[in-house]
Amino acid sequence: MSFLSIAHLGNPILRQKAKSVSREELFSIEFQNFISDLIETMLEYDGVGLAATQVHVLKQVFVFEVKNNPRYPNRDAIPLTIVINPVFKKLSKKMEEDFESCLSIPGLVAKVPRHSSLTLEGLTREGKPLEMKLSGFAARVAQHENDHLHGIVYLDRVLDKPSLAFEREHRKFCHSP
Ligand code: NI
Repeated sequence: MSFLSIAHLGNPILRQKAKSVSREELFSIEFQNFISDLIETMLEYDGVGLAATQVHVLKQVFVFEVKNNPRYPNRDAIPLTIVINPVFKKLSKKMEEDFESCLSIPGLVAKVPRHSSLTLEGLTREGKPLEMKLSGFAARVAQHENDHLHGIVYLDRVLDKPSLAFEREHRKFCHSP
């Protein structure tokens, strides 16, 4: 296993769309190793999610997990989830605004509006159908990661522009997690 290098804002790959993963590709040793590396890289950098495009691979896969995360100490735990070819269904009309950050945009946070709940469909790494109802922070993380697969970063969605802050200052002046 190895850690993958993370593309930062300004790298054109973050603005490209990922391609769907064929079953043949999914079952290859190379792709399975890539998924393991993606998970290891997320954990190494204390991310709660990581999309393939962030590590220079234009394939429709993202991973997320929240567990004893020092960057998000007050968030509910989310079990490790790996999604291939994700699709969202039943997006709630209700939107919620909360702070987000991104491993591709280090040091910044801002408030982003997201659908408060949705159903995530796709495939597991074993090629089985996956269907999960997500709400709250898990729904937020999934929408953030899915955006990466479409060349979108969270800054594109910020409506509350004055909420944009350096993480350090945010911690000092804002008490939300
Ligand atoms: Ni991100």
